[in-house]
Amino acid sequence: MSDAAKRLRMNSNRKTIIITGTSSGIGFALAEYLGKKGHQVFGLSRKTVESLYFKTLQTDITDHTQVQKAIAEVLKTGSRIDVLINNAGMGMVGAIEDSTKEDIWKVFNLNLVGAVQLMTAVLPTMRMQKDGKIINISSIGSEMGLPFRGFYSASKSALDKVTEAIRYEVDPWNVQVCSLHLGDIKTKIAENRVRTSVSEPYQKTFNKVYELMNSHVNEGTEPVDVAEYIDKLIAKDRWKAHYYFGKFGQKIGVPLKWLLPQNLYESLMKKYNKLD
Ligand SMILES: NC(=O)c1ccc[n+]([C@@H]2O[C@H](COP(=O)([O-])OP(=O)(O)OC[C@H]3O[C@@H](n4cnc5c(N)ncnc54)[C@H](OP(=O)(O)O)[C@@H]3O)[C@@H](O)[C@H]2O)c1
Repeated sequence: MSDAAKRLRMNSNRKTIIITGTSSGIGFALAEYLGKKGHQVFGLSRKTVESLYFKTLQTDITDHTQVQKAIAEVLKTGSRIDVLINNAGMGMVGAIEDSTKEDIWKVFNLNLVGAVQLMTAVLPTMRMQKDGKIINISSIGSEMGLPFRGFYSASKSALDKVTEAIRYEVDPWNVQVCSLHLGDIKTKIAENRVRTSVSEPYQKTFNKVYELMNSHVNEGTEPVDVAEYIDKLIAKDRWKAHYYFGKFGQKIGVPLKWLLPQNLYESLMKKYNKLD
């Protein structure tokens, strides 16, 4: 069966899906994957990319007016918004002591405030429909303070708490929200991170951790595998608050944090990060 015929057959399950951060990495792979499956996909990012499978609405998601305009544009093509995937995000590396207020705000403004802005923009439609699903892309690193990535961990962790809270608030309208915690995925996230200058006392340990974190990303899971996982997640009826996707060695860090004595857990983390 041709691709077009497959898409047509799937049209009965066709959903309108908004994904942020679709100009690269996970967002691009996801938008193409869901578009190929026959869904109507809108990608929101500052750069536009050409694709046969989804339409980019050029949007800086930290700008309230641009977000409202993009959502209005989506609603013009049909009156529904079935799924929102808050994927746009950025990393931040450096020592806590060296981090500037401006850099911290940049990361929180995108990873937390940007995601919240999208949720509040789609919720009136989802509440009216009495149906909707929102996936907030988080990180396994949101469950623990990662060395030299403290503010990245904190921004994703803050988003997780908002996810947990909003689940109670929007449940009466059958709107479901979850955090999807990812392990390392092979994308350009390292190039796009905010990198603070690292002062001399931290340089030696920072360099070790930095090299390691970049090698983890380069050896990470392929973005298309995340897309396949999300496709299955969207099809599930009832969602839990948290889902974890990544290599076993990374996912296991989450239960271990709660099961092991704190000092033992910390020394394992030091070993993992080559800090011992
Ligand atoms: N890669 C990993 O190992 C990993 C692990 C855990 C979690 N994650 C999370 O996965 C998500 C996707 O990351 P990725 O790895 O695919 O990174 P990426 O390749 O750097 O993609 C980031 C995307 O976010 C978009 N973006 C950045 N600022 C934006 C803004 N102001 N408005 C709209 N879009 C904006 C970028 O597009 P424009 O620059 O065109 O705007 C880009 O498409 C992030 O939330 C990240 O934290 C990634």
